[in-house]
Amino acid sequence: MHATEAPPLRTPLHGTPLRMTLRFALQRIETGFDAAFGAKANPCRHLGGTAFFLFFVVAGTGACLYAAFDTRVDGAYESVERITRGAWPLSGVARSLHRYASDAFVLIVLLHGLREWINGHAHGFRWYSWVSGVPLVWLVYASGLGGYWLVFDRLALWSLVATTEWLDALPLFGGALARNFIADGVTNRLFSLLIFLHIGIPLALLLGMWVHIQRISRPRTRPPRLLAFGLTAALVLLSLAKPATSDAPADLALASPNVHPDWLYQAIHPLFYASSGTLLWIAAGALTVALGLLPWLPPAKRPPAARVDLANCNGCGRCFADCPYVAVTMRPRTDGRPLPREAVVDAALCAACGICAGACPSSTPFRSGEVLHTGIDLPQRPIGSVRDELARGLANLRGAPRVVVFGCDCAANARALQASDTAVLSLPCAAMWPPSFVEFALRSGVDGVLIAGCRDGDCAYRLGNRWIEQRLRGMREPHLRGTVPIERVETAWCGPFDGTALARELARFRERLGALPAARLALFKRRQEVIDG
Ligand code: HEM
Ligand code: SF4
Ligand code: SF4
Repeated sequence: MHATEAPPLRTPLHGTPLRMTLRFALQRIETGFDAAFGAKANPCRHLGGTAFFLFFVVAGTGACLYAAFDTRVDGAYESVERITRGAWPLSGVARSLHRYASDAFVLIVLLHGLREWINGHAHGFRWYSWVSGVPLVWLVYASGLGGYWLVFDRLALWSLVATTEWLDALPLFGGALARNFIADGVTNRLFSLLIFLHIGIPLALLLGMWVHIQRISRPRTRPPRLLAFGLTAALVLLSLAKPATSDAPADLALASPNVHPDWLYQAIHPLFYASSGTLLWIAAGALTVALGLLPWLPPAKRPPAARVDLANCNGCGRCFADCPYVAVTMRPRTDGRPLPREAVVDAALCAACGICAGACPSSTPFRSGEVLHTGIDLPQRPIGSVRDELARGLANLRGAPRVVVFGCDCAANARALQASDTAVLSLPCAAMWPPSFVEFALRSGVDGVLIAGCRDGDCAYRLGNRWIEQRLRGMREPHLRGTVPIERVETAWCGPFDGTALARELARFRERLGALPAARLALFKRRQEVIDG
């Protein structure tokens, strides 16, 4: 055993025991989904994109329904009935799809928020994504609730009365809403307002969804094709098996109609009648504020942001292309060098993941000079000190086959694998490892390099394992050089609870390395020695 590494900047597992237990349970559930759908199409990893997809299904079917909808209060109910019976082929399916996709939408949004919280994404640099997500829940809810009113059946009236009574508990309305409503009934003017709200609120929601993803580069706003197809097919089948229907026409004379609420959208009404409007507003307001403040409860220290060293930056833009959180911008050069651009980091957006350092062409351990300076670096984990650690670790290796593990602080704890024949180093994200470090290790005498990161498609910094795979396959810069014996490089995607799986991956890799002919590795090293002179 030897000490090759600096202590991790953050432990892979941190949080309250409740959140850790839930996280463990979530990982187990997601393992099941991985087996059924494959890691990349796992629906749990595409909840945000699925929410986008469902929004457009709801908007599309809504636009079709609107074409046959009578916007007068007297004609609305009958027009919905016509749609249900078949105003045009499959119009009934369109209505049912509109309703069921709305139900799925609210469910998926809640699951997405819950998953983000369980995974610890309500804190730190993600505060913006979290805080901008909270009002979306209300907007989704208000959009769906308002849809039920347009059917203008008994359920609509019940929901409308309950909502106006609840709104009346706010000092702003002073009890006037329900009073006017009972006195005048639902006029065409009021009904037009309801229609306006049912179109306006979803448009505000769309704007909110756009705002929500502004601090994420390459946001996954579309689920994988198979998932989108499967979800649509399931919703269509449900629409055919159990078509959405209306209640009896609205009747203001009926004091308390016997209705069957949609528990996803209308559970708030029985809650209102069981408590009081004021109490419900206080509870809803307190919950919203608490959720909005969650990123700062308790306040946490953020690690220092990445820093650019202009003397080592040629303005290539790779850090800009690879940053998962739009923290890097390319600006006109300011240091007088004859280069068009330079990288600039916005510290407020930076996740301190180090992926940019892994992308920078200056982050190569082969550069001469006692201290390795790179174009963009993490002050708390400079690439230069990582090279020195690696060199020390490689020098201490004994036995065969000798392996170096390039680990990730957010994934399974690679440090547990350290042994006399295994050097382990860990960085904030596995994509902080430039491919040239793989070559450096192989040239320095190891028999194999294992890169260990988060589960496939579930990188803590979103894009890490995708970039690694592309860099290793030569599809992305900086790429692993074609002369490197790729059969001696392996990846292992294991989450923070998958320590045993990672140990198994290493054992399998060792077995494979043991069976490989040594000639190609020897040739690669000899060729490099000749090139290096
Ligand atoms: C209409 C509702 C919503 C939609 C359409 C939506 C969509 C998305 C999408 C597409 C992403 C990017 C995923 C990726 O590419 O990695 C995302 C990220 C995120 N969302 Fe939402 N979201 C919604 C509601 C919420 C809610 C209610 C919360 C929590 C209160 C939330 C919290 C987050 C967080 C924390 C991230 C950042 C994940 C990361 O940085 O890795 N979202 N959302
Ligand atoms: S450390 Fe991560 S978030 Fe910060 S600039 Fe680099 S790639 Fe972007
Ligand atoms: S990757 Fe490095 S050299 Fe290229 S723009 Fe970014 S800091 Fe500069």
